[in-house]
Amino acid sequence: MKNSEKIQQTKEYLLSKIKFCPSVGLVLGSGLGILAEEIENPVYINYDEIPHFPVSTVEGHEGRLVIGNLRGKRVIAMQGRFHYYEGHSLDAVTYPIRIMKAIGVQQIIVTNAAGGINPSFKTGDLMIIKDHINLTSQNPLIGPNSEGLRFPDMTEAYSKSLINLAKEIANKNKINVLEGVYAGMPGPSYETPAEIKFLSVIGADAVGMSTVPEVIVAKHSGLEVLGISCISNMAAGISEYSLTHEEVMETTEKIKAQFLILVKEIVADM
Ligand code: HPA
Repeated sequence: MKNSEKIQQTKEYLLSKIKFCPSVGLVLGSGLGILAEEIENPVYINYDEIPHFPVSTVEGHEGRLVIGNLRGKRVIAMQGRFHYYEGHSLDAVTYPIRIMKAIGVQQIIVTNAAGGINPSFKTGDLMIIKDHINLTSQNPLIGPNSEGLRFPDMTEAYSKSLINLAKEIANKNKINVLEGVYAGMPGPSYETPAEIKFLSVIGADAVGMSTVPEVIVAKHSGLEVLGISCISNMAAGISEYSLTHEEVMETTEKIKAQFLILVKEIVADM
């Protein structure tokens, strides 16, 4: 079946479950799915019941769509995302972004947990993503192209106006936010200290295993993107400790109150 036919079937299924089309999409990363609990009049749709959706396997990711109202906006949230390291193709990883576009979403907020590389960062910081470096050795747009430009421009992958809005909201709510470049690695092993040194030299401030494929597809689809990283740990060799998924989850738990306020207030003004 052609991708466009699959998208059409998924779209029809979702539209049969909801009474309105959302305009804002939220992709919630490790430990950040809690934001979806704040959505009013929610419709929950598990990934495994959606035609053509992959199924999420990683711990700490719930695996469902939550569609409803958040601060007066109609939103669709992914509580849990798909990762390349789970064995999904990048087509599968980015399929939900295509679906968001198909059902009328115009802007998305992509969130993740990331390791801090910039030495001025500390665990628990929030970083607005100003740009990314794709180090997955893959690109979700490889293959036949029907959904957008063959060679999409990535000069402003992350919307300047949404970055400014996010900074304003953070300021108003006295939430400290940093800005930086996110390096997208394939994972699932964390980086070696030598790799982190390399990432630092090429200009990365934080590193993670998601987001980049989704943002490439979002840009290709004509969506406006805001990216927010929760610095869940300092990257390998920057901290003296070895990295664990437990630390990542513990930090996102600690930062969640501020993260929730920040994202909700941004959504209100989008
Ligand atoms: N490296 C890669 N991915 C991550 C990290 C990290 O240190 N922390 C959270 N996701």
